Amino acid sequence: MRGDVDTIKERLDIGEVVGQYVKLEKAGKNLKGRCPFHNEKTASFFVSPDRQSFYCFGCGAKGDIFTFVGELEGLDFKATLKLLAERAGVELTYVRPEVKTEKDKIFAVLEDAALYFESNLRESAEAKKYLLSRGITDESMKTWRLGFVPEEWRLLYAHLTSLGYSKEILFKAGLIKQSEEHKDKEPYDIFRGRLIFPLFDPSGRVIALSGRALMKEAEPKYLNSPDTVLFNKSEILYGLDKAKDEVRKKNYAVLVEGQMDLVLSHQAGVKNTVASSGTAFTQAHLERLKRLSARIILAFDGDTAGKKAAEKSTILALSLGMEVKVAELPEGKDPADLVGESQDKWKDVLRESKHAIEIFLGEILKNEKDARKVGKAIERSILPLIALLSSAIERAHFVSLIAKRSGIREEVLWEDLKRIKTPHIQKAKDAESENEAQQAETSTARERIEERLAEALLWQKELPESSSERIALEKEVAELTDRLSLALLEEEIVGLKVAIAEGQVGDAAVRRIEELARKRDEERRKLM
Ligand code: GTP
Ligand code: MN
Repeated sequence: MRGDVDTIKERLDIGEVVGQYVKLEKAGKNLKGRCPFHNEKTASFFVSPDRQSFYCFGCGAKGDIFTFVGELEGLDFKATLKLLAERAGVELTYVRPEVKTEKDKIFAVLEDAALYFESNLRESAEAKKYLLSRGITDESMKTWRLGFVPEEWRLLYAHLTSLGYSKEILFKAGLIKQSEEHKDKEPYDIFRGRLIFPLFDPSGRVIALSGRALMKEAEPKYLNSPDTVLFNKSEILYGLDKAKDEVRKKNYAVLVEGQMDLVLSHQAGVKNTVASSGTAFTQAHLERLKRLSARIILAFDGDTAGKKAAEKSTILALSLGMEVKVAELPEGKDPADLVGESQDKWKDVLRESKHAIEIFLGEILKNEKDARKVGKAIERSILPLIALLSSAIERAHFVSLIAKRSGIREEVLWEDLKRIKTPHIQKAKDAESENEAQQAETSTARERIEERLAEALLWQKELPESSSERIALEKEVAELTDRLSLALLEEEIVGLKVAIAEGQVGDAAVRRIEELARKRDEERRKLM
């Protein structure tokens, strides 16, 4: 395996690999760009083709292509190895089956469960008929590995134990349950009488299941696996494994709320669609997406719940500095319905999506005729969104748009905007504010360096002089010392910027910043 890692590193150019995720430009022998691991406006992320490594001066992230791709794609080492081996055209040498870890076993049992459900679907005319009636093609059923399980208590349990899996692993994989009242009885299947949508991790492995009731009256309509070591429902994005390249290429993602919506949207050719699964979109979802693209289109159901959800997601996404558009679905319809009517309808609705603020403003003006109430509604739900925009130009654009559409004077809007202090929004805004974010990050970067330096110095003392370990450590101490002085410079610069922003200091500070920035750039060059 070691040999494979080296071959892959030889064959792949780190600049090219990183360049697929981050826009890089030349900086001497190196490349630089904006760090994908923390929020920054200026480029402090460097890639060194010579050293085959990357380093961020802002947040301290560093590593090689494996660390980089693993972290950005959310993959563990094995999965990263597989992905990069494919890209490099390296055939992985056979790895002796080691003792399987518990995670490996859970992956394996979920894979077998998915296979079992798939074969059940092939045999169930009723389930297939239902899917076809929803407009899902045979091909989509295969692509998404849809499955079915009849309404029985222990079909899966019996099947998996016959394959040799232990009860314990079935519990840990979230596939079976023990009755509280009848502790003496055998455990039973969690998924019964349902269509099955396997949920995949970004590399396409099954990590959980979502089951849709086939009977109208069955509750709940959708049932998800409980959280397990592999699955966290507030982080999983359904469809991400198949959508991620397309999201990156098109530089935006389409967000839908349902599994059916997602499968049908992909089927209609909108392959940059992702869905949450049974929860609203969370910060974790959006941060994950933001690494691929900062632009999203929300395409939720055309009902009150869908509109509420879109507002919530917009607040989250705007506070993360993302660009948010909203697609307006006809009243009472969801994306699946539209695709069912015609693929073009779905694509048209997406094409006509507009900036979230514009959509929400339009809603208010459409529903509210009383001028005073319009003003109140704008103050309550539109101005807070504008306050979240980090670009002053954008803020001005929307203030002027509201003024034009509503007839409220711009000065009045600006006045109200200044007063906005919705606590969560203010908090999000504070976190976004570049100065503070950078300050927080540099100080932790400095602290990390200081910690490592202290540790290295301690070790150094204990090692025999001119031993190879000691020499290596001395080199590290030298590098850490350089990085510490860089971090200190950075901190001083940020401190001064904040002081200027708060109006505490004058021109002298600006000159001092320039001087410090020059020193900092020198230090950076020394380090590369
Ligand atoms: P279909 O009738 O299958 O097309 O469902 P839908 O997508 O139109 O359902 P709906 O709009 O009601 O729900 C959207 C998404 O919310 C679903 O795809 C599920 O992911 C989730 N969801 C819906 N009902 C439930 C439920 O009862 N429990 C859980 N956990 N999630 C649900
Ligand atoms: Mn729906």
